[in-house]
Amino acid sequence: MYLVWTDVFSHPLWAVSTVILGLILRSQRRGSWDPRACLVQLKGKTAIVTGANTGIGKFIALDFALRGARVIMACRSEARGSVALHEIRKRSGNADVHLRLVNTSSLASVRAFAEGVLREEKELHILVNNAGASGLPRDITSDGLEVSFATNHVGPFLLTNLLLDLLKQSAPARIVNVSSMNHWKGMVDFSHFKGKNLGYTMDSVYNHTKLHNVICTNELARRLQGTGVTANSVHPGLVMTEIMRHYNFMVRFLFNMIGIFFFKSSEEGAVSTIYCAVAMEMEGITGKYFDSDCSLGLPAPLARDPTLAVKVFEFCERLTSKF
Ligand SMILES: NC(=O)c1ccc[n+]([C@@H]2O[C@H](COP(=O)([O-])OP(=O)(O)OC[C@H]3O[C@@H](n4cnc5c(N)ncnc54)[C@H](OP(=O)(O)O)[C@@H]3O)[C@@H](O)[C@H]2O)c1
Repeated sequence: MYLVWTDVFSHPLWAVSTVILGLILRSQRRGSWDPRACLVQLKGKTAIVTGANTGIGKFIALDFALRGARVIMACRSEARGSVALHEIRKRSGNADVHLRLVNTSSLASVRAFAEGVLREEKELHILVNNAGASGLPRDITSDGLEVSFATNHVGPFLLTNLLLDLLKQSAPARIVNVSSMNHWKGMVDFSHFKGKNLGYTMDSVYNHTKLHNVICTNELARRLQGTGVTANSVHPGLVMTEIMRHYNFMVRFLFNMIGIFFFKSSEEGAVSTIYCAVAMEMEGITGKYFDSDCSLGLPAPLARDPTLAVKVFEFCERLTSKF
């Protein structure tokens, strides 16, 4: 019988061996640090996790709750937040988990949330800026900011600054900003904040916002030296969450198909953030960027430039002081 080489791909063995190889690769992708083996307890500590109703944020909040922390789940939807709140309370047996509403794309909402925290909380030991969105369509918020910049960077930047005194008073305290390895593809251009000179192909705007996360975390860490408050940024990995919800069907389909074999689950995606927030070996470590396997990552060249970091941070301070 005459066979061409492409017939290999239609042979049943090809499909079977691909699935087996995929499952092997999937089982090998666990990171080096295991939260379950980390015995750190957070009783008496207060933690805020933004975007805690789903995806990575939900598992970060669950981990803190299991360690006995008072957890504030900062979510934008009361309905979605309540479902996650009850699940986390039930799974952790910790009743000291609470839902507070914040929309990080609205600076008024961020201010109202922060005022509530400052009124209600005596201490704050962990702040995780996890809420974020990718692929948002072109839009300008009521504050006049490009919507991805507002959601992923400006809102979290303002929130952190509003809570800084409380974090300092509660030191030792840790700030963890969830960025992405995509920050390597980002650029700095202050006109982007107002939605100018931006291309909207795939995740290009998202990448810029994630670069700003790393840059400002580095500068914040420098400013916080000696206060007992650390600030680090992380890449969670490629994680099967709802992060692709704003992309078209084809992109989501491909992401999910590849993701089944190669991407992390939400629980696995939470690990690098939990590492930075609770691990003993992270005590005093600040101004670093961590990869999804909890190893020290190399930030993009722009993120390593201290003079640029000062400029970007000061720009964001001026911008947020207007609201
Ligand atoms: N998944 C990945 O592969 C990946 C890779 C690199 C970095 N990250 C980063 O990981 C973080 C978590 O993402 P995820 O993958 O868990 O995505 P996700 O499942 O879509 O969860 C995102 C969370 O952010 C919240 N959020 C979005 N916009 C918000 C806003 N304006 N105000 C308040 N909350 C808002 C969402 O709330 P609603 O549910 O109410 O919309 C949700 O709770 C993000 O910062 C993302 O950039 C993810």
